[in-house]
This record gives sequence, C-alpha cells and structure tokens, in this order.
Amino acid sequence: PTATTAELVSAAHASGGGVAAFNVITLEHAEAITAAAEQTGLPVILQISENAVKFHGGLLDGVLAGAAAAAAAASVPVSLHLDHVEDEALVRTGVAAGVSSVMFDASVLPYEQNVGATARVTEWAHTHGVWVEAELGEVGGKDGAHAPGVRTDPAEAAAFTAATGVDSLAVAVGSSHAMTERTARLDHELIGRLRESVGVPLVLHGSSGVSDGELRQAVAAGMAKINIGTALNIAFTTAVRDYLASDPTAVDPRRYLRPGLDAMTATAAHLLRVVAGEPEQ
Ligand code: G3H
Ligand code: ZN
Repeated sequence: PTATTAELVSAAHASGGGVAAFNVITLEHAEAITAAAEQTGLPVILQISENAVKFHGGLLDGVLAGAAAAAAAASVPVSLHLDHVEDEALVRTGVAAGVSSVMFDASVLPYEQNVGATARVTEWAHTHGVWVEAELGEVGGKDGAHAPGVRTDPAEAAAFTAATGVDSLAVAVGSSHAMTERTARLDHELIGRLRESVGVPLVLHGSSGVSDGELRQAVAAGMAKINIGTALNIAFTTAVRDYLASDPTAVDPRRYLRPGLDAMTATAAHLLRVVAGEPEQ
C-alpha cells in the first residue's frame, strides 16, 4: 500500500536502521523497485527527480501515475517522494499530485539564501502535511563533476535544521552523485557527529558509488534514508545492451525491457537488504 515517507524514515530512524529510496525514471523502474520491495518484504521510497520530470516533458502527473499505481498495488509500504527539486512551483505541483514528501534542494545557494528559500518552502509544505528534506553542503556530481571532498559542518547543520524546520537533512560526507564505481570512502566519524548535533534523520545521496560494507557502516553510524539512482541504471542498461547484442533482430521493446527490468529488481533487492542491515547471504 501507499505509505508516507515520514512514516518510513521515522521508523528507520527510530530503530537505528535505514530505508532505501530509489530514483524512478521509467515505468519499468517503478515496477522493478516495488517487485524488489515485495521480494524482500521491506518498505521502499520511490523518488522522482526534477530532472526526471523534465525528461518527461514536465508531465509530473504522467510519471507519478505509474509509480503511484505500483505503490498502491504493492504488498509492502511504498511512499512517493520528489527528489532534488529546485523549482518551487514543482513542489506545489507535486503536493497537489499526491507525493507525501519533497526534497527541496537549494544547496548551490550561499548559506543564508539556502536557509531563506528552504524555510519558506518548508513552512508551506508543512501546512499541506508534507515532509521536507533539504541539503546542506553540496553533494557533487549532479552536473557530472564529482566533488567528494565537500563536507557538511555539524554545527552549521544543526543551525540550518533549526532555522528551516526541515524534517530531514541531506549531508555531504564523502559520496558523490552518478558514480559508476563503488569507490567512495565515507567519513563515518562525521556521520556520527552529524547524528549527534542534528535532531532530524540524515539522508545519504549518491549512494551508488558506496560499497555494501560502507553502506552498512553509514546506516549504523546514523544515515536513515539512502538515495540510490545510478546503480539501477547500470543494471538496466547493461542487461538491455547484452540482450540487444545477443538478439540483433529484436524490435519489440518488451524483449529487451524485460531483462532490464529483472536486472533492476535483482539490484534493488540486494541493496534493500544491505540498507536494512540484513546479514549477507
Ligand atoms: O537523489 C538521488 C541520489 O542521490 C542518487 O545518486 O545516482 O549516485 O546513486 P546516485
Ligand atoms: Zn541526490
């Protein structure tokens, strides 16, 4: 059934565990991620980024419809989240369309402007019962340039959270977006200090570049929401490429989308278990 992100992240935060949030680009992503959640019996967050909405010509309702249908039909709790929103109008569209949470990303702005914009959006979202994630200390890589050196300062993070009223905070601790190798080294000591100083659940972005072992440690140190995008796209694209190479006469998309979907399901199921802290199989 459809759950709220607030419920899923609060439960993870309270138990010292983590919940995985996967990026949805196509209908196949939504189907694969919910299939993985059902296989593992674990809750999951389906998140749609502003960039994915743009890819679909701005038709948020269209992308969201597939994810919402998959969430409603699932046997485990699944929530719908808007990811990396910089356009305040999209926050309002998303809330009207039924997401339970939004990440408002003003992390490129100087601190005071990030506080101002985030506080304004958070106040509005809270009057609509919507949970807000913000980012402090830019996690690099969204523009293709990796910046794993950026770090969020714990004292600034505490001040930012208090000043904005956000429900969760994305922090920079060594990961970077869109990595295709799992070589990121996280600062686990910093994660622990951020957990101590920031009262709200912490969010790890760019988790595709983080190994299973480092992900387990990050959750144990205090990361509650683990955002994963690229890992599923690697699984999908590799399977599609392999299928097309093996069957050069194929034209029906279902022939190659099926192996792509199944590969995403397998990867998502594995990562769901890792994030949930289940023992290795
Ligand atoms: O917000 C989305 C995540 O941070 C995904 O990052 O594609 O590097 O896993 P990733
Ligand atoms: Zn991100």
